[in-house]
Amino acid sequence: MTTAPILELVDVSAGYGAFRALFGVSFAVPAGTAVAIVGPNGAGKTTVARVCSGLVQPTSGRVLVDGDDVTGAATHQVARRGVAHAPEGRSVFATLSVEENLTLSFRQAFGRTGTGDGLARAYELFPRLGERRRQLAGSLSGGEQRMLTLARVLVLEPRLLVADELSLGLAPIVTEDVYRTLGRVRAAGTALLIVEQHLDHALAIADEVVVLDRGEVGFVGPAHELGDRAASFLSAHEETV
Ligand SMILES: Nc1ncnc2c1ncn2[C@@H]1O[C@H](COP(=O)(O)OP(=O)(O)OP(=O)(O)O)[C@@H](O)[C@H]1O
Ligand SMILES: [Mg+2]
Repeated sequence: MTTAPILELVDVSAGYGAFRALFGVSFAVPAGTAVAIVGPNGAGKTTVARVCSGLVQPTSGRVLVDGDDVTGAATHQVARRGVAHAPEGRSVFATLSVEENLTLSFRQAFGRTGTGDGLARAYELFPRLGERRRQLAGSLSGGEQRMLTLARVLVLEPRLLVADELSLGLAPIVTEDVYRTLGRVRAAGTALLIVEQHLDHALAIADEVVVLDRGEVGFVGPAHELGDRAASFLSAHEETV
């Protein structure tokens, strides 16, 4: 018997009101693997990430976690099954300090007594956050805010991390840092679903690639089999972003 993937989307369509953003999207994230979703702006990558964490509900199709149908489940129910979502953009509480942001997440997950250990792990992962623990999150640099977003979910030791555009707007050196951290997280057994516009970052870490174009899957398969056509389409696009 083969083990069910941690996450599977089966023929998922979804949208916002009357607008349809995804059309029959299917792919799976097997345990311990890294899958990258790439594609141009507006292709539906963020919408896929939202479907995976329960933020957007499919209009048809199914979402499976460990082979169990969780279609329609709320975000906290999906999170409880070990799926964590680091959303796009600056998803921190701007008027709270770094430590207050972290405390909010960890108290919910570990209770009052486990919060101190959670903070220690966050500062170990990202020493910069430790140095800036009293600073208001809204005044952190873009890269530091991405670190804070990541720390809030990584310390929970998810079984699957859905990370949306972690490198967006970051200096190359910070991006390398973030990807090194993702590499360590993966080595520790966490599966990754990474939304990434930069093909080279995606290919460096992913076993499998899903290419989305206008809400449809154009290619899904091992990163090394990504066809020349898809690769040249994506790298041509990359020069324009
Ligand atoms: N909250 C929303 N309400 C209405 N339409 C939305 C919403 N979010 C996304 N869309 C639309 O859905 C489509 C897919 O958007 P999505 O954010 O998933 O694309 P993306 O591939 O992540 O793009 P990007 O690379 O720019 O982040 C776009 O046409 C977008 O305008
Ligand atoms: Mg997006």
